[in-house]
Amino acid sequence: RRTIKDLLQDYKKQLHHEVSVSGWVRTFRSNRFIALNDGSTMENIQIVVDFEVFGEELIKNIKTASSLEISGELVESQGAGQSVEILAKKIKILGDNFSEEMEKTVLQPKKHSLEILREQAHLRFRTNLFGAVFRVRSAISFAIHQFFHQNHFFYIHTPLITGADAEGAGEMFRVTNFDLENIPRTENGEIDFSEDFFGKKTSLTVSGQLNVETAMMGLGRVYTFGPTFRAENSNTARHLAEFWMVEPEVAFNNLEDNIDLAEDFLKFVIRYVLENCRADLEFLDKRFADEQKQKPEKDRAKQGLIEKLESVTSKRFRRVSYTEAIDILLNSKENKKGKFQFPIESWGADLQSEHERFLVEKHFESPVVLFDYPKEIKAFYMRLNEDGKTVAAMDVLFPGIGEIIGGSQREERLEILQKKMHEMQVDEEELWWYLDTRKFGSVPHSGFGLGLERLVLFVTGMSNIRDVIPFPRTPKSAEF
Ligand code: 4AD
Ligand code: MG
Repeated sequence: RRTIKDLLQDYKKQLHHEVSVSGWVRTFRSNRFIALNDGSTMENIQIVVDFEVFGEELIKNIKTASSLEISGELVESQGAGQSVEILAKKIKILGDNFSEEMEKTVLQPKKHSLEILREQAHLRFRTNLFGAVFRVRSAISFAIHQFFHQNHFFYIHTPLITGADAEGAGEMFRVTNFDLENIPRTENGEIDFSEDFFGKKTSLTVSGQLNVETAMMGLGRVYTFGPTFRAENSNTARHLAEFWMVEPEVAFNNLEDNIDLAEDFLKFVIRYVLENCRADLEFLDKRFADEQKQKPEKDRAKQGLIEKLESVTSKRFRRVSYTEAIDILLNSKENKKGKFQFPIESWGADLQSEHERFLVEKHFESPVVLFDYPKEIKAFYMRLNEDGKTVAAMDVLFPGIGEIIGGSQREERLEILQKKMHEMQVDEEELWWYLDTRKFGSVPHSGFGLGLERLVLFVTGMSNIRDVIPFPRTPKSAEF
């Protein structure tokens, strides 16, 4: 069966032939014109129904959101708005709808707020907006695999259940099959994890990095791409408790190579979407422009969505050390006048998203890669620089988003790594296998993690991360 996208792409060959399509009714006007959509594209195909031929019985059962199978002749359209239409010869109703209840849903063809659409996440796929968002999300995922495949990386599937806290930030969701009413305890009253399913304390992974590093030591260039979980209680438009992360890890790469890879990678994926998702992007571009009009002038984006995507792929990202960034922030009007919620006081301060966005949106007006952060504010595995104070970390900051990628050159020197773990209270016994990689043929290497949803936010111009993942998981919310 051909999709509507296929049919519309080379309709000329099919003109005056009998074609069949299936899809859902988006609208049914004047008991005559059905706008049918099958999800393959933004576009609907118009079906012309002759009342005389089909009779009242069938026609009254064609309702918004019903699903139909239709065959008929493809002809050039008389009306404006579409190039072709199908003169229906056969109509089969595949799935009816219960119209009274439907009136309460987002399937009702009118404008619904994003909040209401979120409450009906199981139905929002059928709107133009979410069709576009999730087609773009799918294209991005495909482009990610394509980029790595072309560059000779191997896709490694890392575990979701783990015994280690890869980021050392203590934001883990526990995994257990204990009967919570009756948890086994040791003699001194502590929970006895040896009785648990895995015989130890386990959690959902916050990052596949440590596992993918071990694969890198054998396969050279690897990446993992899967769901990750964080029990951080940040109810923001940029955080999810379950999100997808892409994590490449490359043997022999230093920090600069790592930044080059991140920049090439982001540009490749964005270019892919520009080239392959035109209709969806044009729709999203228009939505974005309409949304800007609702905002006070000072908060409006300076560029349109497509314009912004094109400019990001054509300019080199600014590369700025943490130390330089702190100088810029310390001397900024915003900091001096107390405009930041978290004023920057001195070198060593952790950057908040307001600071990142100041650098990207106001100061540089460009994506920015910050590097060489103070070791205290970054994870234990990052490589210590010569200065003994900073680590070879890098964060890529994007306009409207803030941090989109976090990565580093890794500490490949066993003794320095052990010392760092000790200082940061990371359990060496738990990570004995990770330390083994530094004992046997350790190599300089680097990698990073991209938050998929943050990239989808950027590319689609949506403003809440809950609207770019099919079923968002956030504090106090795990419906569907
Ligand atoms: O900076 P993060 O915490 O880095 C790591 O986890 C490293 N192990 C990655 C690596 O080097 N292999 O997370 C990486 C990215 C962030 O830049 C952000 O885009 C995204 O993951 N991210 C989140 N996205 C949505 N919701 C959250 N709660 C996120 N936390 C991080
Ligand atoms: Mg980070």
